[in-house]
Amino acid sequence: MKRSLLKQLSCPYCGTGYDLSTVLTEDEEEVHSGILECDCGHFPILSGIPRLLLDDLTIPILTRLEQHDENAALAIALDWPSFGLLKAIQRKLSRILFRFNRNRLTDILVRMKGPMLQVIRDQQVKFVDMVSTLESGFWGEWLKYRFGMEPFLPIYALTTTMTNHGYVLEVGSGAGHSTFVLSRFIDGTHIIGTDNTFSFLYIAKKYFVPKGNYVCLDANNPLPFPNGFFSHVVCSDTFQFINSKIALANETKRVMHDDGHIIFSHIHNNMFVHEFAGRPLSPAGYYRLFEDLHVRIFPNQELTTDLFTHNRIDLSRCWTPESLNAFEGLSLIAAKNDSTFCLHQDPWKRSLACIKTPVINPAYSVKLEHGRYSISRRKMSKEFSKLQQVTSIDMADQLDLRDIEPTTAYLLDLKEQDPEYFLKLMRKLVIIDVPAHYI
Ligand SMILES: C[S@@+](CC[C@H](N)C(=O)[O-])C[C@H]1O[C@@H](n2cnc3c(N)ncnc32)[C@H](O)[C@@H]1O
Ligand SMILES: [Zn+2]
Repeated sequence: MKRSLLKQLSCPYCGTGYDLSTVLTEDEEEVHSGILECDCGHFPILSGIPRLLLDDLTIPILTRLEQHDENAALAIALDWPSFGLLKAIQRKLSRILFRFNRNRLTDILVRMKGPMLQVIRDQQVKFVDMVSTLESGFWGEWLKYRFGMEPFLPIYALTTTMTNHGYVLEVGSGAGHSTFVLSRFIDGTHIIGTDNTFSFLYIAKKYFVPKGNYVCLDANNPLPFPNGFFSHVVCSDTFQFINSKIALANETKRVMHDDGHIIFSHIHNNMFVHEFAGRPLSPAGYYRLFEDLHVRIFPNQELTTDLFTHNRIDLSRCWTPESLNAFEGLSLIAAKNDSTFCLHQDPWKRSLACIKTPVINPAYSVKLEHGRYSISRRKMSKEFSKLQQVTSIDMADQLDLRDIEPTTAYLLDLKEQDPEYFLKLMRKLVIIDVPAHYI
């Protein structure tokens, strides 16, 4: 992170501004590693990412930075999250052992992470290959196919309505898929992605938006940014996982400037039981959190159908809490003025202009027979299909790609030569736009 941005941060625990008390590596672009000091203590910066957490790893990371061993400090901070029971126990246990902060023990624990660290830090490996190497089961599928998952789709619609680009905050930016979609409309240097999982932010920076800024924080705490700093606060598929919803709602209002928008894409409705939905609220509960602003909540499928079927985003419609009770996935927009609540015409025009790396959606496997390519939907695990299946778009199970070659260069050419057909394939999620080193 740049020094000028670091100066804007204040501590989520004591509220004082940070001093950059130690700098280990820095170039004109950013401070890569160092230590921030505030009234209540010290926090590390690793790979340009301030880590504002107070957990088992904070002291061991700081100790290694004080010993000028940035590599070991980063290795302590990087963890590969997994839903697997065995890996979760391993991670928990190693965190408890790190707490002892003995150099020899820390070395052993870091060495045990060796193969995982090697892949995550390898600069040559593509994103999907990294995920496959890490063998994370359901979690791996989630990362590879995220761009075409049902709960992800509203972010495509909502980003096309964004105007007025100052700094944009993303809360719960995860591994960077939604940050990437934002970065197609907003210069990455103006995006601040935040998450409480350091490894995700590291991956987001490595693969998804390298120019972006990232802060590792717990969104249950006050946000470390000044009043009115952001033109947009975005949160995709995350708000239901935050326990202190009223606190975060109030924080998003504080850091948003007067013309700004709060955009919560995919929040879960608590009228529906879902294995991975955190602690969701009812539609009325979500409305209540933002009742002092102009606020509207839409069923996800309405936004998705608007974009993918009708090529419009109609935010002029009002949905009462009762009328939303029947929908499992919702999206919320709140603002101090109501200018965004109108009909946004031809969103694809804006989207298509931003596309740089079109590929065939990795949810399809590609086959070449008699000189023609065809695609068919991959078989996903039962667990994944049950939870993440696309239902609001009529995705083809199989498709003959006519004379199309499934390469990015060919697809970019197709976009120019036959924009109508290109758009048709995008609207079916056959073509998606991905970061440069994704596949
Ligand atoms: C379902 S993922 C969404 C990621 C991304 N926004 C997307 O749409 O692909 C939810 C994210 O919320 C993050 N998260 C959960 N609780 C959090 C907390 N208390 N503070 C910050 N981030 C949190 C998780 O680490 C995870 O990356
Ligand atoms: Zn502090």
